[in-house]
Amino acid sequence: AVGFSGGQARTNSCPKPGVDAAPMALIEAGLIKQLEEDLEKKVTYDGKVHAYSELLPTEDPDYRGMKRPKFASAVTKEVSEQVYTHAKAGKLVVTLGGDHSIAIGTVSGTAKAIRERLGREIAVIWVDAHADINTPETSDSGNIHGMPVAFLTGLATEDREDVFGWLKPEHRLSTKKLVYIGLRDIDKGEKKILREHGIKAFSMHDVDRHGIGKIMDMALGWIGSDTPIHLSFDIDALDPIYAPSTGTAVRGGLTLREGDFICECVAETGSLIALDLVEVNPSLDEQGASDTVRAGLSIVRCALGDTLL
Ligand code: ARG
Ligand code: MN
Ligand code: MN
Ligand code: MN
Repeated sequence: AVGFSGGQARTNSCPKPGVDAAPMALIEAGLIKQLEEDLEKKVTYDGKVHAYSELLPTEDPDYRGMKRPKFASAVTKEVSEQVYTHAKAGKLVVTLGGDHSIAIGTVSGTAKAIRERLGREIAVIWVDAHADINTPETSDSGNIHGMPVAFLTGLATEDREDVFGWLKPEHRLSTKKLVYIGLRDIDKGEKKILREHGIKAFSMHDVDRHGIGKIMDMALGWIGSDTPIHLSFDIDALDPIYAPSTGTAVRGGLTLREGDFICECVAETGSLIALDLVEVNPSLDEQGASDTVRAGLSIVRCALGDTLL
């Protein structure tokens, strides 16, 4: 459980509760109990939400336009090592965020672990309204939660060890092993990146055209069977009708059932090695918070193999 919200704009002097409250909300709603009792999973949980406050640097000025780069780098490095250890031991790693910058840690951790354990490259299914593939230079906002995929694929690199320079080739993901689903708010620079690198992306337009069943056939077909899959699910992929409590909501998203269906299909492959659930923010829309948490719970259950019948 990662209670980190430093990847989105917020000043140090005025912290307000945000996505860092989400892991506890999900756990209090019964997530771990349901996994153990309903799904009969053996869950290893260290019983706390990591806030990583011990990693807060004394000063953290903007760098290449990135906001709070040292804190995000330090936290994701720590997350990477934790996820690596669990994935190396053969565990399916579930990370509850936190904002999407934490995927710099989770994906780099599984990529390295699966390389070492199975000699394989992982594939990532990134379910999101956004592509989160800005480089520091293409980003308008400077928010690191809009950049994780650029760092993970090596489209953004940095020598400074304390600003993501710790990411090495073994942590990286090939742009050919990445599939997006649910996109509908892509920045101009991101569109250029997606096109130039031939990245597989299924937008909401594609979902409308083909239906989610066909989209999943195409997405899993692209990845190829028997490839270890890391599913990174941003709750803002869902329409704000179902998941309003999130920082960058965009209308016209996936239905609850489409979100669950994506997860069910990934579960059916038997190849899921890690799941991130990010950007749930119970404090943003208090009336919608319980719906959003329930939607998040459902996503996790479906990804871990809960079936309707
Ligand atoms: N593209 C915008 C940016 O780079 C929004 C990113 C939203 N990302 C997210 N993880 N909610 O700032
Ligand atoms: Mn995201
Ligand atoms: Mn998003
Ligand atoms: Mn935008």
